[in-house]
Amino acid sequence: MSDFINHFWSNYVAIISLVSIFACALLLWLTARKRVVASADNTTGHVWDEDLREANNPLPLWWVGLFVLTIVFGLGYLFVFPGLGSFKGQSDWSSRSEYEGAMAQAAQELAPVYAKYVAMPLEEVARDPQARAIGERLFMNNCAQCHGSDARGSKGFPNLTDKDWLHGGTPEKIVETITKGRIGVMPPMAAAVGTPDDVKNVANYVLSLSGEPHDSLRAGLGKSKFTACAACHGIGGVGNQAVGAPNLSDRIWLHGYGEAAIVQMINAGKHNEMPPQEGRLSDAQIRVLASYVWGFSNNAATP
Ligand code: HEC
Ligand code: HEC
Repeated sequence: MSDFINHFWSNYVAIISLVSIFACALLLWLTARKRVVASADNTTGHVWDEDLREANNPLPLWWVGLFVLTIVFGLGYLFVFPGLGSFKGQSDWSSRSEYEGAMAQAAQELAPVYAKYVAMPLEEVARDPQARAIGERLFMNNCAQCHGSDARGSKGFPNLTDKDWLHGGTPEKIVETITKGRIGVMPPMAAAVGTPDDVKNVANYVLSLSGEPHDSLRAGLGKSKFTACAACHGIGGVGNQAVGAPNLSDRIWLHGYGEAAIVQMINAGKHNEMPPQEGRLSDAQIRVLASYVWGFSNNAATP
């Protein structure tokens, strides 16, 4: 529980807690013991501001009772639960063990549900309404923060609902992506391309591949320089899923559209990461998620 190398802070906390509780008890006992002799009009004889008098009304019994109960409860709580420094408490309770217990119970309750999907081909899981409902919840909790709640992604985070895949769109490839994560690396290429003017020319050639507006004179000059890029993006820029290099001949832009965005990619390169989920999610959960994602671009929802 404690990360400290000695017991000083543990004792410090424990002693302050105990001393405070005993001080409350002492205060209660001392005030209860002291009997003030009241005068005939039930005042103590103290007078302020000329005519303000202190009446001698004892504490109501229910109030004293609550005070005593609070003290007893406090001591009992500190005996049973962790709270006194690094003392673990009689019950050995911890938030971590409660969490782990709840997770284990949930996993056990869900095991039969998931067992069904582990045995099913992924394409079929994608058509199962219950599996899609589970997939949607898993997606909202684990993936939506990056890919968006509609899975359409944003700049730098791929759209998972189209047929354009960086790393492959078969159910097996999607399982692999989710399980192991993906790292997309494009090295800075300016040096290999040449002068800033050459870089601009290649960028225009890239724009020409998908028929985006471009300067055709520059595109013509840039074409020969694209050989440096074709190693990853393929001849004609059709992309290569083995290295996660995007198709540059479609109109889908992961890192922004236009000459400036492409020049930036060539000059600075890119390192883009999808975090691996193995260990966080079970194999069965990953299967359900993968089928859910596959379903977006394969109309699985309408059998
Ligand atoms: C921290 C942000 C982040 C989270 C969380 C995340 N992803 Fe990703 N994901 C990415 C990035 C970035 C990429 C692109 C990797 C690349 O550029 O190669 C990616 C890529 C993918 C791909 C490959 C897309 C393609 O075109 O090949 C799939 C499939 C995917 N994610 C599914 C998921 C699922 C399912 C989850 C939830 C378990 C998830 N991601 C959670 C950031 C994230
Ligand atoms: C070593 C392999 C490699 C080489 C060489 C390479 N790229 Fe890339 N490129 C990638 C990868 C991988 C990505 C995707 C980065 C990611 O996962 O986010 C990418 C992304 C891009 C993008 C962004 C695409 C989009 O959808 O937004 C452009 C544009 C691009 N590259 C252009 C080029 C050009 C032009 C060259 C040559 C000067 C080049 N690349 C050379 C691997 C490469």
